[in-house]
Amino acid sequence: MTDRYAVIGNPIAHSKSPLIHRMFAEQTGQDISYEAVLAPLEGFAATVERLRKVGCKGCNVTVPFKFEAFNIATELSERARSAQAVNTLSFDGDEIRGDNTDGAGLVCDIQQNLKFTLQGRNILLLGAGGAAWGVSLPLLEAGANINIFNRTTDKAQQLSHGLQTFLKRDLYTRKGLKYGLPNFLNSYAELSSKQFDFVINATSAGLTESEIPLPPGIFAPGALAYDMMYGRETPFMKFAREHGAAVIADGLGMLVEQAAEAFYIWRGVRPKTAPVIAALRLS
Ligand code: ATR
Repeated sequence: MTDRYAVIGNPIAHSKSPLIHRMFAEQTGQDISYEAVLAPLEGFAATVERLRKVGCKGCNVTVPFKFEAFNIATELSERARSAQAVNTLSFDGDEIRGDNTDGAGLVCDIQQNLKFTLQGRNILLLGAGGAAWGVSLPLLEAGANINIFNRTTDKAQQLSHGLQTFLKRDLYTRKGLKYGLPNFLNSYAELSSKQFDFVINATSAGLTESEIPLPPGIFAPGALAYDMMYGRETPFMKFAREHGAAVIADGLGMLVEQAAEAFYIWRGVRPKTAPVIAALRLS
């Protein structure tokens, strides 16, 4: 019997997830269906219940429901707990398992597709909203040093402190693993004296075509500028092009990689992502 999966969001019509998962299913011979489901803004939990009742095995969760998904999960992975948000739910009897594959998707895109090493490199992470929370622990686990800068400094501080608390508690139980502690930058002036190997835009500024004021000398030689948005050149990507970033990437690879990680959680099979990324670039 065909196993059912879905992506829930609001809005959802633009989502590429059904196309991506159908390509994964075809490539791996998995018998699944995957649909886009629009949940009312006040109706996320009810939508999940309805899907569970009709035998759905799992779902992806997108804006604005990742925090609610975190709250309804009965079990949480470590990366979901550090992100305090869930983008992948798996249904198993009464259990609702919550995971977050966004950070793994970003790390995989940077290391495997773009061929950059994160170990020991200095990252400037722009933003302190859900997207930034989602990717922080996996970046630290990959050995990078994270510096967080956000328009609203308090939120950068909260993210930095939240991660530090999580890591200190976590290190206690995972002896032997040591990560650098994240740092937050207080001001544009502080930013001006520094250069970074990676500048990752996890803000939503691109949605409104807004520029993020950044010092012109921010990119170290050979730096990667990565925007987690995709579909067009954002003002951040244009800035990077004009100010010396060696490689500029959008978030399409991350989108496909996070989906592949969710597919693996559900099906135990890793699809090849390169042909799917290539197909989406052409579409
Ligand atoms: P998401 O889940 O996409 O991260 P979010 O939680 O609303 O969405 O967070 C949006 C992030 O983008 C925040 O860090 C926000 O900065 P503030 O905390 O100062 O609001 C950032 N952001 C949005 N528009 C921006 C802009 N024009 N310039 C700089 N940062 C911006």
